[in-house]
Amino acid sequence: MQQVNLGMIGGGTVGSGVFHALQMNGSLMASRLGIRIHIAKVAVKACDEPRPYEIPRSFLTLDWRSVVNDPNVHIVTELVGGTTIARTMVLAALRLRKPVVTANKALLSAHGEELFAAAKQHGTNLYYEASVCGGIPIIKSLREGFVGNRIRQLYGIVNGTCNYILSRMKSEGAEFADVLAEAQSQGYAEADPSLDVDGWDSQHKIGILASLAHGFWVKPQDIYVEGIRHITRADMEFAGKLGYTIKLLGIVKKMAAPAKPRKTDGSRVQVSVYPALIPSAHVLASVSHVFNAVFVRGDVVGDTLFYGRGAGKDATASAVLSDVADAALDLKFGTHHRVPPFVPHELKGSVLPIDEVSSRYYVRLSVVDRPGVMAKIASILGAARIGIMSIIQPEGHEGEIVPLILMIHDAPNGPMRKALEKIARLSVVKAPPVMIRVETFE
Ligand code: HSE
Repeated sequence: MQQVNLGMIGGGTVGSGVFHALQMNGSLMASRLGIRIHIAKVAVKACDEPRPYEIPRSFLTLDWRSVVNDPNVHIVTELVGGTTIARTMVLAALRLRKPVVTANKALLSAHGEELFAAAKQHGTNLYYEASVCGGIPIIKSLREGFVGNRIRQLYGIVNGTCNYILSRMKSEGAEFADVLAEAQSQGYAEADPSLDVDGWDSQHKIGILASLAHGFWVKPQDIYVEGIRHITRADMEFAGKLGYTIKLLGIVKKMAAPAKPRKTDGSRVQVSVYPALIPSAHVLASVSHVFNAVFVRGDVVGDTLFYGRGAGKDATASAVLSDVADAALDLKFGTHHRVPPFVPHELKGSVLPIDEVSSRYYVRLSVVDRPGVMAKIASILGAARIGIMSIIQPEGHEGEIVPLILMIHDAPNGPMRKALEKIARLSVVKAPPVMIRVETFE
């Protein structure tokens, strides 16, 4: 049986997970692929660092270049993270025409276009299943399973930390800061939670999915991002009463083509990350705790749902192994017989600026309960041609500050933002307005 040798860079949580999984299921993979995958070397930062699964000392080296440059290493895994040295490592392996498997979403987000171009130039492939949603095979599904579909819409709960926090806020009626502190003490959230709770991790992942789905590389700076720090218990409760659940969503939506498209028009796609009210009856509303899910609507297949663990040594190792298997097949049959992992094909595509994106909205205002207040607010919205769908104001006493909840019809984000700025300046509005978009999956 043919053998391919794997050179691993990174032997931490994911790397040791891959090592362990291959010890466990290597023979099974060999019988499925007709190729034996043998780990040749693992480059690590320190040989004695603690790792979830032990890697025998004989595999370890401190010199990643010795892994990449070893002529007996056929495939390289980059599992170190970061965007600087990781880029150098990946480029070094691609230049030697070695297929590379990475789990590094930040690297792809920042340098994906360059790295895929390098892979093409050197006649090899760069695989990245583990970079998005850990164990969920969403990359392979998009690039292979849905190759015959235009992806109309894709909605992802792609950050386990945020989903954990929002799930607990809802089930326990707790505030964001309290749940975050507890999640940090239990190891569900990082000591510096910004990457997760401010939406940047989701931005990296949704940018990769959007690029793959639409065939042009989506630049991170074009993705509108809002995190979940401003979500309060009050908003969770009002949303619940209205039949909604708040989730942090990555959203990729293709806009309908104009009635008379010009030759220069490419596809226009919304690519955003923000917390949204979603109907509590929708399947994504029941995705709880640290789980991830991706809902994909294709023009041929219709609606599909992918669910699973988005992080962790074993789920991520499963994704890395699937890529290693593809890379091994590249070597067995030649890369040119296979569809590369990312093919730019929609070169005129662009991301729609958030101000041009239309959505529904939930707005919570803190207003003085006094005659004429509602009229002032309604007249600002009316002048902007923004329609109110429903209103809730819990009973209070005249003159008190009360919450006023408005559900707003579909309107572009730009005019809605400007109307809210005007509303915020009214003397009867006593706190900055809270606005959360509503997604109904229509
Ligand atoms: N920090 C991520 C999450 C996992 O909370 O989902 C790694 O992508």
